[in-house]
Amino acid sequence: MSETAKIELDGKVYEFPVIEGTEKEKAIDISNLRSKTGYITLDTGYKNTGATTSNITFLDGEEGILKYRGYPIEQLAEKATFLEVAYLLIYGDLPTKTQLDNFNRDITNHTLVHEDVKQFFEAYPAKAHPMGVLSSIICSLSTFYPESLDPNRSTEAKNLTILRLMGKVPTLAAWAYKNAMRHPFMYPRNDFDYCKNFLHMMFALPTQDQEIDPVVVDALNKLLILHADHEQNCSTSTVRIVGSSQANLYATIASGIAALWGPLHGGANQAVIEMLEKIHLDGGDVDKWVLKAKDKDDSFRLMGFGHRVYKNFDPRATIIKKACDDVLEKLQINDPLLDIAKKLEKVALEDDYFKSRNLYPNVDFYSGIIYKALGIPTEMFTVMFALGRLPGWIAQWKEMTENNEPIGRPRQIYTGHVLRNYVPIEQR
Ligand code: SDX
Repeated sequence: MSETAKIELDGKVYEFPVIEGTEKEKAIDISNLRSKTGYITLDTGYKNTGATTSNITFLDGEEGILKYRGYPIEQLAEKATFLEVAYLLIYGDLPTKTQLDNFNRDITNHTLVHEDVKQFFEAYPAKAHPMGVLSSIICSLSTFYPESLDPNRSTEAKNLTILRLMGKVPTLAAWAYKNAMRHPFMYPRNDFDYCKNFLHMMFALPTQDQEIDPVVVDALNKLLILHADHEQNCSTSTVRIVGSSQANLYATIASGIAALWGPLHGGANQAVIEMLEKIHLDGGDVDKWVLKAKDKDDSFRLMGFGHRVYKNFDPRATIIKKACDDVLEKLQINDPLLDIAKKLEKVALEDDYFKSRNLYPNVDFYSGIIYKALGIPTEMFTVMFALGRLPGWIAQWKEMTENNEPIGRPRQIYTGHVLRNYVPIEQR
């Protein structure tokens, strides 16, 4: 591997160091490109630009590999609990039993939210999208903990905010759903584990206890693990750049939720189910819809397909597709949308348009079908994604702050008017 990259500009040759990561990824370090050459680089959408170095998550888009702190996603999804994975992402290693018990206890002790927070929900219309509710209420949590605004607070104080978020976000997510249903809020149960407690707060009613199927708990645990982190995706990059201004962690996580909401990102899981339902209502003619997805004059896209990094199968989609069959069989659910999804996948994967662009199903293609089978309403799907991604956002923010990374501030190339003088309105 060459140690440096040479760039010739205006007759001069400049050299820049080449760096290599532990997974043999290579980069040209252009940290002093502008000071040396007066030039910047331009890379709209950062398709070729690394924003940082990180020890948290590795993706190999060509090989379809995903590892959290070196552990393959397949092993973690099969053998770990979501809190084990959250601990791994945030603190760097799989926890010992004592560490996990303490982490679980500390989170459990922070699942309640201040009673005044309930008033926020009353201000929202019943049809309020839960992502808008969640993002704003999590940002508002900073007003209940003003000490969290101090960027120089101690490590213990920062960790307290991490535990508060891990404990309170499931409660607030479930309450956003209850609020939309105009059902009474269910309080967290300290005797339930993370996933069972969330399902309890979602579906139980004060008038009757809700039998929570272990199959559903296991499926949710797996889904949250699969969504837990994904290196420098859109919402994580948002978290890093907002956090780099030393904004408090509540506001930083709220910004990640806002970015995740978009249908090109985490909002795709809701868009996939809405797409499958549309195809189902239209008679299930997948060939017709694949043609629409290929038609440049048609705004329709195959939601849940394609990925900025994966140019092979998204390993999470492979795991979720199998889990779909298992969960629907165990719950004895026959969902026609799953059949349509499988047909859509088969047709697309045999079609040159998708093959030539390396478009494969991504994490969002099948996840909505499982969420639907678990009884979770469509508008809550992206909230479920946020619930899973929370430890990943926290881990990436923690790494960025511990590395004392500078405030994120990209450059630009200006292409507007060079000079214009003010003209009074009468003369325009
Ligand atoms: C997530 O980054 C992450 O890691 C994200 C994520 C995570 O865990 O954080 O993995 C989660 O966001 C998954 C992606 C969910 N989004 C969708 O499923 C929405 C549908 N897919 C896309 O819109 C698209 O594929 C993106 C946004 C995911 C990726 O877009 P890129 O990398 O900018 O690629 P592009 O839009 O430039 O597409 C390249 C070509 C284009 O055709 P040409 O201009 O070359 O002719 O592929 C076509 C696109 O039109 N294309 C599609 C398509 N996706 C891309 N055509 C039809 N259907 C699609 N879904």
